[in-house]
Parts: sequence; C-alpha cells; structure tokens
Amino acid sequence: MTPSFIIAIDGPAAAGKGTLSRLIAAEYGFHHLDTGLTYRAVAKALLDAGLPLDDEAVAEKTALELDLAGLDRSVLAQHHIGEAASKIAVMPAVRRALVEAQRRFSAKLPGTVLDGRDIGTVVCPAAPVKLFVTASPEVRARRRYDEIVSGGGKAVFDEIFADVKKRDERDMGRADSPLKPADDAHLLDTSEMSIEAAFRAARELIDAARKRI
Ligand code: DC
Repeated sequence: MTPSFIIAIDGPAAAGKGTLSRLIAAEYGFHHLDTGLTYRAVAKALLDAGLPLDDEAVAEKTALELDLAGLDRSVLAQHHIGEAASKIAVMPAVRRALVEAQRRFSAKLPGTVLDGRDIGTVVCPAAPVKLFVTASPEVRARRRYDEIVSGGGKAVFDEIFADVKKRDERDMGRADSPLKPADDAHLLDTSEMSIEAAFRAARELIDAARKRI
C-alpha cells in the first residue's frame, strides 16, 4: 500500500502558515489539519465547562475525548482561547493525546498537510516535506492587526505586538516539544514575501520531493 504523502508545516503564530497550508492542500487534493485548532478546542471545552486550565489530568481527559471532525476556526479564533490553548499546550499528557490523534489523521490518503509547531520535529518526523514558515514579530503583529481592523474590529497595535512576543516565548520556551525548525526543514521567511510567492516556493519543494518518492 502506498503510504500517505505528508507535508509538515511549522512556525510561530500569524506567520502565514494557515493560508499556505490551505492553498497547498487544495492544490494537491490533500486533507488538511490545523493542529492549533486541536489545542484550542481542548481549551474551549475546559473553559465552557468551567474546568481549570492547570489540572493536567482533567485537560488530558478532555484531549482524549476530542473529535477532530468539525473543528472550526471561526468559533475557536478568539484571543482568550488562543491564550488558554498556549497554556494547556505545555502539558505533556495533553500533547501526547493530541499528537496521537494528529498522527492518525496524517495517515489519510492520498496525502495530508498538517500545520502547527511540532509537526516536523515530533508529530511526523518522517514527513518527506517540512516547511518552517516565519516572519518577523513586527510583520506578524501587523498582519494580525490588519486582519482584525479590516474585519471591523478594534485593536491596539502595541498590545498585539506584545502579545505575539509573549506567545512566541511560551511556544519556544516550553520543555516539551518547543517551537523550533526540524534539522531538515526548509525555512520560508515571509516577512517580505507575498503569499503567492511563498506558495510558489512551497510547490517547487513539494514537486521535487514527490518526484524522489
Ligand atoms: O496556531 P494557534 O494560534 O492556533 O495555536 C494555539 C496554541 O496551540 C499555540 O500557542 C501553541 C499551541 N500549539 C502547539 O503547541 N502545537 C501545535 N502543533 C499547534 C499549536
């Protein structure tokens, strides 16, 4: 049986990996999982049930019960859910449960695109294509800000900027599966690159890897 072709996309918040992942999945007809949503969904379930965010056993149970079908960013995008997700994401038992579910997803045929923080390093270390998508904290904060304002919302740039940096610190500083590029990941810095250019670069890497297999 031909195994699933896995594309691992990692990077910090608001670097453009979500948009890039969706474009790639559509281009190749692959299944896409935004793994940030799995952490967000567990955080939201805890918040909705009035359960604590610092009890690892309770969070693990919620993670084990998570159904990957029907994850929807529009109900999980809120800022406080992202903050809560970043907190429970430091818990090894939560990560173990979610990584297990993410690996099962990655086996879907004909191929999958998973995006997150630890896909190339921990979830799918054997993926034939690994991209690490970054942009400077200023650029990422600016994109977040523009997104909120163009959607009719209110935002203060300095607060978003401080927040991006705080989230980076937490994601990069945690002991279990910190955000970092896999040794064999291709770095894609989108600070001065359009999404179209990033997509073209990604396609070249993917097409070359598909020829090798
Ligand atoms: O990408 P996002 O903002 O939706 O992710 C929310 C939080 O989940 C983020 O702060 C870190 C965590 N996360 C993680 O630890 N590992 C992943 N593979 C994806 C997200």
